[in-house]
Amino acid sequence: MIIDGKVISQSLKDAMKIEVDALAEQYGRRPCLMVIIVGDNPASRSYVRGKIKATEYCGFDGHLVELPEDVSEATLLAEIDKLNNDPLVDGILVQLPLPKHISEDKVIAAISAEKDVDGFHPENVARLWLNQHCILPCTPKGIIELLDQAGVEMAGKKAVVIGRSNIVGKPVAKLLLDRNATVTIAHSRTKDLAAVCREADILVAAVGRAKMVTAEYVKPGAAVIDVGINRTEDGKLVGDVDYEAVLPVAGAITPVPGGVGPMTITMLMRNTIECFLNRMNNK
Ligand code: GUN
Repeated sequence: MIIDGKVISQSLKDAMKIEVDALAEQYGRRPCLMVIIVGDNPASRSYVRGKIKATEYCGFDGHLVELPEDVSEATLLAEIDKLNNDPLVDGILVQLPLPKHISEDKVIAAISAEKDVDGFHPENVARLWLNQHCILPCTPKGIIELLDQAGVEMAGKKAVVIGRSNIVGKPVAKLLLDRNATVTIAHSRTKDLAAVCREADILVAAVGRAKMVTAEYVKPGAAVIDVGINRTEDGKLVGDVDYEAVLPVAGAITPVPGGVGPMTITMLMRNTIECFLNRMNNK
């Protein structure tokens, strides 16, 4: 089975569009997401375009704030502070990576935790690990949603996550743990990685290396979630999984593109609605 993230994502966005019209009616305004981009990295530009498009599709307010590559850290922090203090702004996202002269840690911590739609703020990260109410990071949240929608049981299953990043590997492992999977976090230094992965009923690949996960990594019937975004020499977008080789072995698999990617943006929309509701209901 191919888990079609595009189709699942579209139906979630269609439902949110209707929900947002009802929220506008009820609260007298729409959820508002502000996206900040610094410089003109082509990949970042393309991601941000997708986020703004989804914002418009779902009927949110908000827009893109474009700052030049050489903007000072102080100016960026002042812009964030302005949005933090704007009562009509529900969500703030600063597209990463940032130019070297700006501290990403400082910028992430400067965004008000209640408006942190990415779920990157240390307060949200801590709350996730403490099982407290928090904003979940979009990609891990989207992966769990994909598994749910595909009917993949997590409770009692063995999950292996390859990758230990703050944005994907660690939080997705925590969310799988919360669904009562038994979770192993593997990485590039894991000994006999293929054998470790072959134990998994659910295999999440988030390493950033094209075609690293071959058929020998996959237990027959396993659900394989490909979080990789890699460019081949001829510019083609490919995941971390050797899709053609793994497809006949896996029980379910997400393609790249059209798997996890669209879900990340859709969960960003979901988080914006949640931030709006939390603020309107003063939680
Ligand atoms: N750069 C790559 N992925 C992301 C993301 O999910 N959020 C932000 N803010 N920047 C990113």
